[in-house]
Order: sequence, then structure tokens, then C-alpha cells
Amino acid sequence: MGTQNSYHQAPDSVAAAPPGCPVHQTWSPLNEDYLADPYPIANALRNEHPVFYSAELGHVVVTKMSDIDAVFTNPNVFASTNVQDPIYPLADEATAVLGAPDFNPVAVMSNRPEPDHARIRVHTRKGFSNRRLKTLEDYMKERAGALLDGMIASGSPAEYVSALAFPLPAEIVFRLIGFPEEDDAMIKSWCVNRRAFSWGKPTAQEQVAIAEGMLDYWRYCRDFVARRNEERADDYTSELLNAHDADPDPSNGTGISYREVESIVYGISFAGHDPVTALLCNTIRCLLSHREQWDALCADPSLAAAAVDETLRFESSQISWRRVATEDTSLGGIEIPAGTRIFLNFASANHEPGLFEQPDQFDITRANANRHISFGKGIHFCLGAGLARMEARIALELLVERLPSLRLVPDQTYEFFPNITFRGPDALHLEWDE
Ligand code: HEM
Repeated sequence: MGTQNSYHQAPDSVAAAPPGCPVHQTWSPLNEDYLADPYPIANALRNEHPVFYSAELGHVVVTKMSDIDAVFTNPNVFASTNVQDPIYPLADEATAVLGAPDFNPVAVMSNRPEPDHARIRVHTRKGFSNRRLKTLEDYMKERAGALLDGMIASGSPAEYVSALAFPLPAEIVFRLIGFPEEDDAMIKSWCVNRRAFSWGKPTAQEQVAIAEGMLDYWRYCRDFVARRNEERADDYTSELLNAHDADPDPSNGTGISYREVESIVYGISFAGHDPVTALLCNTIRCLLSHREQWDALCADPSLAAAAVDETLRFESSQISWRRVATEDTSLGGIEIPAGTRIFLNFASANHEPGLFEQPDQFDITRANANRHISFGKGIHFCLGAGLARMEARIALELLVERLPSLRLVPDQTYEFFPNITFRGPDALHLEWDE
């Protein structure tokens, strides 16, 4: 499907274990016990073989921070071209949906190789300037406050994902892009389950439904960019179009094409909300299940930013990412042939002893919590890290101010959507004194 720079290219086959690489026959990040609680298993895997091949996943798994760093900081040897691709081959019916002649987004950010990635990033990062984040901060406070009002008004107990954690990040990134508020519900419906497509193992029927949503979504993005092209506003899309007008030709090494603008809008709206929803839930869940940490935050709300980073380390909303070797190389003493798909296990590295003191403890006063790898590293470092941190901090500040008696509803069980990368509970039930 598609060209080198197109999205969602499923693998034709799964490469065998590199010669000499330890093999794990049964472990997969989709296993039920790992989905329920990855950390004890990730620790055991790292202790056993820091680099090994997972037969279930068809990837070499890298568990130590130093090896993950080496991968992220050598983008020519470890390319990011596969990060949005499905893990397993796609059903023909789903491939057919995305074979529509007008489904033609191009890779522009996380999955675009150099030198184009650097050319495009010059344009994409401008929209995340402090000025725009500041504008969004006021909107964030207003929307988070309004959603929280709604949750409080409907009374204790409440379900936090539907009350705030799902709607807030979507609304923020849609306003950044410039999508009109009246389209929010429709756009959100297309994004649901998109993470299953590239990071899960959906059935053929599910793949078709997701692919249809992606096609609708791409068409919506194209129409929206066309409208903005006619009439600019104060938003990210207009800034990209202005950059395109000023320098439209990518072949000169600095320009940005119209299709690239469309594709950025398509890509960023997903990158910008799903992991944030999970982060908003994970911060609350970590804090409330370590009551003394919640009480410390209530006593000193200036700890909110630190609590967000400790959550990104301790219970990240993104616990892995991928790369593919472009040439024969080695990692942790293991020979890696060109073409090997690499699974970077953040869950393991973020709990690595030697890097973090008592790594399995949640401690919002930890001095080096922000050494976590949850936003990646190097040239593809998360563009939205500042935005995600700001959203999570604002939501926390509001909660400690308005609901200091907040508690997890006892005995609830947490379900995690089966996928290899994103981690947050599907539902989070909270209660408080009224
Ligand atoms: C807790 C929330 C988030 C997490 C954990 C997260 C994590 C990541 C990670 C691990 C990468 C890949 C780094 C690499 O390949 O080296 C990445 C890239 C990216 N993220 Fe995020 N992200 C989050 C929120 C956001 C938000 C809110 C946005 C935008 C509104 C965003 C936009 C992007 C973009 C555009 C890239 C690609 C950057 C590039 O290739 O130049 N992310 N993110």
C-alpha cells in the first residue's frame, strides 16, 4: 500500500530472530497480565535479557535506557518510518478501504525520515510557541473548569474519562488546529479506536470500521484545510498555510507543500489527544492510590507539575515506541540485521534501578523524575510535550482546589484497551464528599 512516505503500511511478513539474539516465545505486550500491570514483568524481562526477540511481536525488544537512548539518537541507523504502521498484516477489506484514490496522507512528522523531517519540523514547531501555548492555557482553564463543574453538578460518584479526560484533550488540540466546536463530537467519533489500528490486533471487521473512520477523517481534514486556505484565522492550520504560501516548494530544502499541511492536520489531531486522556487518568489514579502523595499535593499545589512528570515516569500513558534498523548494527552486544523491527520498552527503562532510586515507588518529590523517556528523545522528541504537561497540570490544580476529598471508588477493576503502546484505564470511577 502506498509509497515510502505514506501512512499505515502493514508488514508483509515477520522477520525471524536475529542470529544470537535471545528469544522469548510467549511474551507480548498484548498479553493480559502485561496489559493489567506491565511493570513487574518489564523489570523481569530487563533482568533476564536486556535485548531479546519477541516471537509473538516479531520485534527485537530493548529494555534499558542507555540502549533506547542509542536508538533514538541514531536516526539514520534506527529509522522511525514504522511508528504509525500496523503491527500485524491488515485484512484485505481494510486495505481496500484505505486504497480509496483520495486517501493519500503523506508521512510528515513522527514517521518521516530525514532530511524532510527536519525541513517540516521547522514549520510544525512554530505553532507550539510559548505565545500559542499561553493562548491555549486560558482556554484550557476555562474548558477544564466547565467540564469539572459538570462532573461536580452530576454528583459523586463520577466517571472521569467521559466527564473530563476524554473531552478536554480533544477540544484543546481541535482548537489549536482550528476545527470548529460544532464538529467536535463527529471528529471524536472518528478517532475512537484508531490506536487499535496501528498498535493493537483488531479483527478484520474492526479494521474495516476503523479504516472507514480514518478515511472520513482524512476527507474532513482536507476540506477543512481547503476552507482555511480561502479564509485564514488565528490558528495552527492558518500558520502552516501561511508558511506554505511563503515557501511552497519542498524541493528547495525549506518549503512545505500543501499536501504536507493537510497531512500535519490529520496526524496531529490524533497524536494530540489520546495519550493526554490517558495521562489525565494516570495522574489521578497514581495520586489517589498513594494517598499521602495526594495530601502532599493538596497541601502544596505547586507540586502539580512534578506530579505530572513522576506519573509520566511511574505509570506513563505511552509505554513503548518503535523503530526499524536501516543497516546491520548492534545493540547491547546483540547483532541487529538491517530491516529488524525494534520495540523500545519505556515501561522497563522508566523503572530502571541505577537511574531512579527505588524506581517502583511513586514519589512526586523525586528530583530526576523528568529523566523519563515517555516523550522520546532526539530529533522526533514529542512536539506536544509542553502542551500535554500543561493540560495535566491544570486539570490537577483544579481538582485539588475543588475536590480535596477525591477518592477512587473502592474495588473498581481497571480495563486497559489492548494495544502495545498507549496505557490508561478505559474508565476511572471517582467519589468525593458532597
Ligand atoms: C502524554 C502525552 C503524550 C505523550 C506520552 C507523547 C509521546 C510522544 C512520543 C514518545 C513521541 C515520539 C518520539 C520519537 O519518535 O522519538 C512523540 C512524538 C510526537 N508527538 Fe507526542 N506525546 C504526547 C502528547 C502529544 C501532544 C499533546 C501533541 C500535539 C498536540 C503531540 C504531538 C507529537 C508529534 C507531532 C510528534 C512527532 C514529532 C516529530 O517527529 O518531530 N504529542 N510523542
